[in-house]
Amino acid sequence: MRLSWLLTPALLAVTVLAVPYEEYILAPTSRDLVPASVYRINGSVSNPAALTSSTTENTTFYGVSSVTYDFGRNIAGIVSLEVASASLSAFIGVTFTESNLWISSEACDATSDAGLDSPLWFPISDAPGIYTAETKHTRGAFRYLTVVSNTTATVSLSSIRVKYTAAPTQDLRSYQGYFHSNDELINRIWYAGAYTLQLCSIDPSTGDSLEWLGVISSTDNITLPQTDSWWLNYTITNGSSTLVDGAKRDRLVWPGDMSIALESVAVSTGDLNSVRTALESLFALQKANGRLPYAGKPFSDMDIVSFTYHLHSLIGASSLYQYTGDRAWLSRYWGQYKKGVEWALASVDDTGLANITASADWLRSGMGAHNIEANAILYYVLKDAISLAQTFNDYSNVKNWSTTAAGIKTAANSLLWDDHKGLYFDNETTTLHPQDGNSWAVKANLTLSCNQSDSISSALASRWGPYGAPAPEAGSTVSPFIGGFELQAHYLANQPDRALELLRLQWGFMLDDPRMTNSTFIEGYSTDGSLVYAPYRNTPRVSHAHGWSTGPTSALTSYAAGLHLTGPAGVTWLFKPQPGSLTQVEAGFMTQLGFFETAFRRSTAGSYQELTFTAPNGTSGSVELGDVTGKLVSDNGRRVQLTSGKATGLQGGSWRLTSL
Ligand SMILES: *[C@@H]1O[C@H](CO)[C@@H](O)[C@H](O)[C@H]1NC(C)=O
Ligand SMILES: *[C@@H]1O[C@H](CO)[C@@H](O)[C@H](O)[C@H]1NC(C)=O
Ligand SMILES: *[C@@H]1O[C@H](CO)[C@@H](O)[C@H](O)[C@H]1NC(C)=O
Ligand SMILES: *[C@@H]1O[C@H](CO)[C@@H](O)[C@H](O)[C@H]1NC(C)=O
Ligand SMILES: *[C@@H]1O[C@H](CO)[C@@H](O)[C@H](O)[C@H]1NC(C)=O
Ligand SMILES: *[C@@H]1O[C@H](CO)[C@@H](O)[C@H](O)[C@H]1NC(C)=O
Ligand SMILES: *[C@@H]1O[C@H](CO)[C@@H](O)[C@H](O)[C@H]1NC(C)=O
Ligand SMILES: *[C@@H]1O[C@H](CO)[C@@H](O)[C@H](O)[C@H]1NC(C)=O
Ligand SMILES: *[C@@H]1O[C@H](CO)[C@@H](O)[C@H](O)[C@H]1NC(C)=O
Ligand SMILES: *[C@@H]1O[C@H](CO)[C@@H](O)[C@H](O)[C@H]1NC(C)=O
Ligand SMILES: *[C@@H]1O[C@H](CO)[C@@H](O)[C@H](O)[C@H]1NC(C)=O
Ligand SMILES: *[C@@H]1O[C@H](CO)[C@@H](O)[C@H](O)[C@H]1NC(C)=O
Repeated sequence: MRLSWLLTPALLAVTVLAVPYEEYILAPTSRDLVPASVYRINGSVSNPAALTSSTTENTTFYGVSSVTYDFGRNIAGIVSLEVASASLSAFIGVTFTESNLWISSEACDATSDAGLDSPLWFPISDAPGIYTAETKHTRGAFRYLTVVSNTTATVSLSSIRVKYTAAPTQDLRSYQGYFHSNDELINRIWYAGAYTLQLCSIDPSTGDSLEWLGVISSTDNITLPQTDSWWLNYTITNGSSTLVDGAKRDRLVWPGDMSIALESVAVSTGDLNSVRTALESLFALQKANGRLPYAGKPFSDMDIVSFTYHLHSLIGASSLYQYTGDRAWLSRYWGQYKKGVEWALASVDDTGLANITASADWLRSGMGAHNIEANAILYYVLKDAISLAQTFNDYSNVKNWSTTAAGIKTAANSLLWDDHKGLYFDNETTTLHPQDGNSWAVKANLTLSCNQSDSISSALASRWGPYGAPAPEAGSTVSPFIGGFELQAHYLANQPDRALELLRLQWGFMLDDPRMTNSTFIEGYSTDGSLVYAPYRNTPRVSHAHGWSTGPTSALTSYAAGLHLTGPAGVTWLFKPQPGSLTQVEAGFMTQLGFFETAFRRSTAGSYQELTFTAPNGTSGSVELGDVTGKLVSDNGRRVQLTSGKATGLQGGSWRLTSL
């Protein structure tokens, strides 16, 4: 028996060899950071660059002045400054912002519905000393930090440091997965997704206390920051790390992440413990009638009902089991899971579709009645539920669930399909064709044929603008959350080049535009390319590190590289690469059973020149290589002939494609 089988996953993570392509990882090598460069100077300041390195030199501020430093990427942490000397007792302030749009010596970017966040002010004496922000003034995400002196004093600083606090339980650069291709932009997108999720993994005691929720309203006209206007001191989950929606805000557990962030964590850092604590905090809030919350604490105190977010938590439980294989965990939640399914089914009416009466969703509007997104997600959940019921030999509800699922599929196609546009309507009384419901319809296999899925993929692609795929159900919004599902829809419709094109267009913009952080993905923006997210009046509030925008990381590993788990922890698998025009791909990730990996090269005409893949010993799976003839040969000499590019019943091990 291999030693690793005896180790817990946590120990395994420590002992495993480093994965390749570490040079692409954006997480810092140390948790003790200094700024990378000087971005802007205002007033009289000598040697501002002294604070960008650990030299003995000092930066001196003469009277009212400021320096903006750039960390080169989005980071998170607790600021300390070291005063070398001051001519009198004075104040030094620091302000933070993710985007360069909100650099200011008077305020940070925003975490509330209106206004801006106040600077952190350090009252300093005229003696040397180190001043460190309190833990509740951890800043969850910033790329730019402005140091301000607001008095007539002459102040010399010998250092400004940030204690990096994100992903508190991770060895920051020990990923359990990797991805590489011949396309550098695609590679950077994969790693920026993984890094975004690291920033969104936080110490649970530093959640947002939402002190201003209901106090500051989005219609307030606040121009200047209030004193001490933000703090992160609310404990949102159990454990020592948890996954939240955004790094700067909300720093709360939101169920939507369970359908995107979870899978991207699984194929990159592997930090599923942070996902588990988040999901457990949602199940802890389940009502007696089976309903799961719209969000975690303290937001859940508002008791908002969301049909779709309820379903995302159920998807989280099923996906967590798929990636961890932790049957004991799932069996602890199986009763709650079934109650959750039953709560959702109570909305199914005699048309066969669920009639949605709760308006809350991912901040899109008009999601009531026989909404296609909600019904597609419900259909997806029922398929999951049926498969989990088989795992537990608990067949009590399976017949009901199967019949209900079939009824949803029939009714959706007869009541909501628009043959003329090749898209589903949002509901029966509108001509709007949403991005969310159409993407989910393909993902859930609500469609009746491959042609129908292809028609959706083609119609969605025909709507793209210069900055990405629109979500007309949310005004003039580009939603990288729903875009993540659209990516999957293109792959499922066997249109990998459309997926690559959308990746480059939308996530390429999100990485390379100078207003972005060049390291993490924004939560939403406008179809005209302005960084305005329609649901918010307060634009500086937009989060530039949002887990729901990281869909590309898992999409590239699962679809482009073809590494799909079909059974818990990958005990069964499907290897089905869809590289499109990529000519070289290498990818892998680990589960408790071992590594799943592949490497292949292709001619520009699309034939494989070299192809290998590996699955752990003791697992079994299938291969689908498309239009390929030849044999697969394993490292212990087994040979399997491909039939129409397919083979089934393969054992784990390392396999190579040969034309002989
Ligand atoms: C420079 O500082 C002054 C005084 O604080 C302020 O009024 C001005 O807006 C600042 N200019 C820039 C470009 O930040
Ligand atoms: C920086 O300030 C410290 C404390 O006053 C002093 O000891 C040191 O010599 C200064 N460094 C330089 C290069 O002037
Ligand atoms: C500098 O900022 C501090 C903290 O906000 C404030 O108390 C002080 O009055 C300011 N000083 C000047 C001269 O503006
Ligand atoms: C904020 O300003 C707008 C435009 O000037 C005004 O219509 C609105 O009433 C103001 N809101 C409040 C709460 O004062
Ligand atoms: C968080 O800190 C603020 C400001 O110090 C305080 O008013 C609040 O009670 C604290 N909240 C919690 C949950 O500790
Ligand atoms: C924390 O753990 C306790 C004990 O297992 C449990 O009762 C509680 O619901 C958990 N709370 C959250 C927020 O997960
Ligand atoms: C039906 O969809 C349209 C378009 O999204 C929306 O405006 C309308 O409110 C929806 N109907 C209901 C009852 O939600
Ligand atoms: C959905 O249910 C509501 C509340 O019972 C009802 O008013 C509405 O007509 C129903 N919508 C549809 C499309 O059946
Ligand atoms: C499923 O069970 C519910 C009661 O829990 C019932 O109302 C519904 O009609 C059943 N659906 C089917 C298709 O059997
Ligand atoms: C999707 O549904 C069609 C029938 O509508 C079925 O033939 C096909 O097998 C389903 N695909 C999957 C992956 O379940
Ligand atoms: C963005 O980051 C990459 C490293 O991921 C770096 O090579 C590139 O120079 C950066 N671009 C800009 C404009 O800073
Ligand atoms: C699988 O087992 C074979 C021996 O049958 C061994 O050579 C190989 O190293 C094992 N592979 C893994 C990934 O453990």
